[in-house]
Amino acid sequence: MEIMKLMEWCRTYRRFDQAKPVPENVLENIMEAARLANSASNRQQLRFLVVKSPEMVEKLFTFTHWAAILPKELGQPKDGEHPVLFIVPTYEASEKAKWTDVDIGIAETRMTIAAAAEGVGSCILANIERDPIRDVLGLPASIEIATIVAFGYPTHESHIVSMKDGDVKYYLDEKKDYCVPKRSREDLFRIV
Ligand SMILES: Cc1cc2nc3c(=O)[nH]c(=O)nc-3n(C[C@H](O)[C@H](O)[C@H](O)COP(=O)(O)O)c2cc1C
Repeated sequence: MEIMKLMEWCRTYRRFDQAKPVPENVLENIMEAARLANSASNRQQLRFLVVKSPEMVEKLFTFTHWAAILPKELGQPKDGEHPVLFIVPTYEASEKAKWTDVDIGIAETRMTIAAAAEGVGSCILANIERDPIRDVLGLPASIEIATIVAFGYPTHESHIVSMKDGDVKYYLDEKKDYCVPKRSREDLFRIV
């Protein structure tokens, strides 16, 4: 995909074809994208749990909350629409550094772009229940989780729309595709 088309397509997706796993070669690309990511002082302190067995994915899914600004019946993926893969970046709590969250953001962005290049959609999730997720993954309390990423083949589209009156709220159109308002370039950038 041409790079700017890829930037546009690489949005948040919240309904997936649960019968369609992410192929092994795409998962390899996603992992490699995180491995090659920039990190502060090149510390590479993150360790990633790849959750792909349907049983484990379902267990994790229970503790994830989607599209907080929509009514739950519209935003939360229904049975058959769940993601098929989670990747959970972790780090030792005692090693939390000033830029750890930046490292996580960069690694997650690289993974979502590598996925999108192969038509795999994703959703970065901060609205998660960390203690139960730690339990499901068998992680000790000393391991920290910030955000996690869900992946799958999307069954809806997501469109950028222009923002009206500064309203950042995304919404669904009549086809239940996501519409995501973005600020104008003039609002965001000042060339000095
Ligand atoms: C750090 C971060 C945390 C997020 N947490 C959630 C979440 O818990 N649940 C969810 O449905 N979406 C979550 N999102 C997705 C955002 O809602 C989404 O990025 C935003 O609405 C813009 O849509 P876009 O990604 O298509 O540009 C998160 C995104 C980021 C970057």
